[in-house]
Amino acid sequence: MGIWSKKSIAQLQGDEGAGHELRRTLTGFQLTLLGIGAIIGAGIFVVTGTAAAQHSGPAIILAFVLAGLGCLFAGLCYAEFAAMIPVAGSAYTYGYATLGELIAWIIGWDLILEYLFAASTVAVGWSGYFTAFLRDYLHIQLPRELVTAPFEVAAGSHIPHATGAIMNLPAVLLVGLMTVLLFVGVHESARVNNIIVAVKVTVVLLVIGFGAFYVVPSNWTPFIPENTGTFGHFGWSGVLSGAGVIFFAFIGFDAVSTAAQETRNPQKDLPTGILGSLAVCTLLYVLMAAVMTGLAHYTTLNVPEPVYVAISNAGASLNWLRPIVSLGAVAGLASVVLVMLMAQPRIFYAMSRDGLLPPFFARIHPRFKTPYASTLLTGVVAMVVAGLFPIGLLGELVSIGTLFAFVVVCGGVLVLRYRQPELNRPFRTPFVPVVPVLGIVVCMSLMIGLGLETWLRLFIWLGLGLAIYFGYGRRHSRIGHGERAAVGPPPADLGGPL
Ligand code: ALA
Repeated sequence: MGIWSKKSIAQLQGDEGAGHELRRTLTGFQLTLLGIGAIIGAGIFVVTGTAAAQHSGPAIILAFVLAGLGCLFAGLCYAEFAAMIPVAGSAYTYGYATLGELIAWIIGWDLILEYLFAASTVAVGWSGYFTAFLRDYLHIQLPRELVTAPFEVAAGSHIPHATGAIMNLPAVLLVGLMTVLLFVGVHESARVNNIIVAVKVTVVLLVIGFGAFYVVPSNWTPFIPENTGTFGHFGWSGVLSGAGVIFFAFIGFDAVSTAAQETRNPQKDLPTGILGSLAVCTLLYVLMAAVMTGLAHYTTLNVPEPVYVAISNAGASLNWLRPIVSLGAVAGLASVVLVMLMAQPRIFYAMSRDGLLPPFFARIHPRFKTPYASTLLTGVVAMVVAGLFPIGLLGELVSIGTLFAFVVVCGGVLVLRYRQPELNRPFRTPFVPVVPVLGIVVCMSLMIGLGLETWLRLFIWLGLGLAIYFGYGRRHSRIGHGERAAVGPPPADLGGPL
């Protein structure tokens, strides 16, 4: 018992089976669309530019391949768990089943970095495109002090310095609006998600298809700019760092696993959704990165709206595409913020039901049937973070947190195969132990590429989490005290991705 206590797989399956069943309507294809909707966002529309300008140059294309590979290995491991334990809570729940309560807590705490901080990061990216749209098409110039983060951390430094700005107001307002929608229970319906996915994919395809004609091949040379003497600044270490930074662009495929209870045939459809959305996005990203760095020299892409800047470089011939890119990014990024803000309360809810967080986090609104308390808390914190910090710092923190969760999921597959080989696994990760080990190796390498400062921030975050666990969670854990874990089923309107 204690910090190593685990939930049995049967118990986990029982937790979700009892009582209210969500309607099982989603198919593999719809899950793939759900995944694409959660994946394509600020990563490709914003972070690609900064990563190319600061780390990899045109070799950002290779960085995308490397990050995609890490996600593929981790995705195969996620698929094994998601099909075996098709319940809410994602990696947190998988950790509870395999590695014990302490590790589950660490993953759950770490997933806050993924979902809550990703919502803030994408909101900051959204603000860049929104501001550019207002400026160029409605001739409204918002003051710099109101669209920029007041804190910036220079490369190689640990201490934030003031930029003179007040806050990133559009980012704060977007998170606020999405929080209100989630509070009253307005979900992004499957139909709205499909429309937004269609818009995003169309915009990306237009940029690739038309941009390709205006590529200046000399922009791709040198393909891997020479290292400046600092780890991660160009050269091969720059490719690694770039991959760690743009890993952010792939985050979201794991959100597919949170729709397990709404899936018609989870055993087959979850792996299809996870791997299908990853495959489509990797292909689009590699092509998009090639076109962006071919249209504009990588040194000019260090801006809040690099796709826009890249096509502006093609001269007047692609002017018609500029408002389409802006609107596509504004709609597409807003939907990612919504999905991330929906996922976070679901994790809080699972942790609170297990007793690791106070009951407050599992409170359900009597009228709206939403987990209003954790929705509000998530929203307020995400607003503050989005208002104060720049996208680079946030994105790297989100990447390292998610990579860490992926390492644990890959490790979990190995542990469970060894400890409980007899379990029914509707989807089996192929080539075990090779795939999980490669997943651990690639994700760890990408974490190394993220540099010391980001590691330091991760440690501070985990230290804070451990303090809360030992101060509260351990003493209140239901499993740790031998109780059956969950009390009652989750409400239908908990805030799943659809
Ligand atoms: N992958 C998501 C994005 O790039 C988080 O916005």
